[in-house]
Amino acid sequence: MSGDSAAHAYRNVIVTAATAGLAGLLFGYDTGVIAGALLQITPDFGLGSFASGLVVGAVPIGAVLGAWIASSNSDKYGRRRLILAAGIIFVIGAIVSALSPDTFILVVSRVVIGVAIGVASAVAPVYISEIAPPDIRGRLVTFFQLAVTVGILVAYLVGLAFANTEEGWRWMLGLGAIPALALVIGIVRLPASPRWLLMVGREDDARAALQRVRTEGPEAIELEIQEIQTSMNVSEGSWKDLLAPAVKAALVVGIGLAILQQITGINTVIYYAPTIIQSTGIDSDFSSILASLGVGIINVVMTVVALRLLDSRGRREMLFIGVSGISLSLFLLGLAFLVGADKTYATVMAIGSLMLFVSSFAISLGPIFWLLNAEIYPLSVRSKAASAGTMTNWFFNFLVSLTFLPLIDLLSQTGAFWFYGAIGLVTLWFCWKFVPETKGRSLEQINDIFTNRAKAR
Ligand code: BGC
Repeated sequence: MSGDSAAHAYRNVIVTAATAGLAGLLFGYDTGVIAGALLQITPDFGLGSFASGLVVGAVPIGAVLGAWIASSNSDKYGRRRLILAAGIIFVIGAIVSALSPDTFILVVSRVVIGVAIGVASAVAPVYISEIAPPDIRGRLVTFFQLAVTVGILVAYLVGLAFANTEEGWRWMLGLGAIPALALVIGIVRLPASPRWLLMVGREDDARAALQRVRTEGPEAIELEIQEIQTSMNVSEGSWKDLLAPAVKAALVVGIGLAILQQITGINTVIYYAPTIIQSTGIDSDFSSILASLGVGIINVVMTVVALRLLDSRGRREMLFIGVSGISLSLFLLGLAFLVGADKTYATVMAIGSLMLFVSSFAISLGPIFWLLNAEIYPLSVRSKAASAGTMTNWFFNFLVSLTFLPLIDLLSQTGAFWFYGAIGLVTLWFCWKFVPETKGRSLEQINDIFTNRAKAR
């Protein structure tokens, strides 16, 4: 292949991954916007605590449903069409939610938004992993997590901009349609996943799709096609196939990380950062908002760091470093609350631990769950298994946000953060014992790891 066309293919694959990664924006934007919007919706609609819970919880519950819908449809219609559908549904949901005349329509439109987010988060990482060359797959799939963090940050800023506007929440929710529209416009120009094309028997189209995103010449592309075809013993697996020993071994990793990513408490910080910061003794709204913006910025910056390191240092090393930081910072955060909120050094310690916590998450569990969930399953059951991981992740996201405040009532702040810190230690053990190194390997070679693991049992 000539230098020019190689450079062209390299640019294509980056643009393709970045465009599909925009799917993460939908997810991040909603995560970041709802707390601020709710502050205004509650008095406008006269919501009680149950109704507020419904408005917030509608999205993760819809997302569980969306990931379920993606499980078989992503094989039937293809990854790209599903991401497109998710973008369109999100645009409609965002507009309807912004115009909601009452709580019922608001909750229903947020379930619809949730469905779009669920579909997008189940399919986009898989799509990126299927078009990516092995040596930069970690970086490319991490575009998705980067978009999540950018979405959260943008939403914090939008929330701030409309905080004092009458019915500003309508703007906050409605503006989510813009990134979704960008996704819709971008995704139609991308190639379909070559692995999906092979799965549905469209070999020539698969070859053409690979030519668009590979820097190597025709021989290497033929080899890649052969490798995919050899690993593809059945065209589309059933749910029962998830119980095959090699798939089960991979599911332990995917489902395990889906749960641990959430129950180490990331969203207690993302959703409640201003509250946590205020309870460390800072009583000005402005400073606590500033500190939460700090959390949003650090999350983005450290995800960029992860992007650079995941393919060189590897997934396992990043997990060990990041999860150790997660545990340490949670113990320090608990300690800061124990020392007392009125002491300056305790406040500094609390804010420092929050920053360390978010940074550590951003270089490890944040991107690596989505990455592994997209790369460890065999093609025949990939969309079902990745959807199962995604559904689990959203369900635990919902559970943690529901139980955080009651947990503080039960155990105090110190107890709650030490509890999450202890789960961090369990996560460290889990990663050491179960998570394989997948850097630089093709998706088909990753299958072999789990097949050998299952044989060794
Ligand atoms: C998690 C989300 C979280 C976000 C924070 C994602 O990987 O799945 O639950 O809000 O990271 O950056």
